[in-house]
Amino acid sequence: MKTAIYPGSFDPLTYGHLDIIARAAKLADTLIVSVMRNIDKMSLFMPDERATMLRCAVDEQELGENIEIITSEGLVADLARGLDTYGKPVIIKGVRDAQDFYIEQQMAALNQAENMMLETLLLPANPQLAHLSSSAFKEFARYGGNLAHFAPDFVVTAVKKRITELVN
Ligand code: PNS
Repeated sequence: MKTAIYPGSFDPLTYGHLDIIARAAKLADTLIVSVMRNIDKMSLFMPDERATMLRCAVDEQELGENIEIITSEGLVADLARGLDTYGKPVIIKGVRDAQDFYIEQQMAALNQAENMMLETLLLPANPQLAHLSSSAFKEFARYGGNLAHFAPDFVVTAVKKRITELVN
């Protein structure tokens, strides 16, 4: 694969996201991780903040030299169209369970309806990380739970700080 796009809200990133990034980077010449808006979710961090955390984590963990991190507004299908000059990009998503699969199957069909050439590749989550989600991360942070297994330390610190700011 020449170019793969891994879109998500990454609010904030988890070890589950980093695992998908590391694996996807081995499948494509260039992996573009795109921080996008999910209109169903209220976000804790601004897109630039999420992208910066992704950049730091990808570099810190040496996940690959071929990984670009961007932010993008609008549709994934339009982002892919704009990247056509890189060779037809493929969308990569991670799936943790049957519920994820159902949602991703629908999104893949919607994206293909919008951009006929656009294929989606689903990677099963690492079973040891499949319980992790950004939503659970934020909920555990809100109620003072153990966060060490969700994400690297600097992300945990940023989440705690932001939650404290919001609560006070
Ligand atoms: O990490 P998430 O929240 O599951 O990611 C969902 C995301 C951001 C990839 C999805 O909401 C999305 O693609 N947003 C951009 C707008 C778009 O293209 N929507 C059509 C697909 S339903």
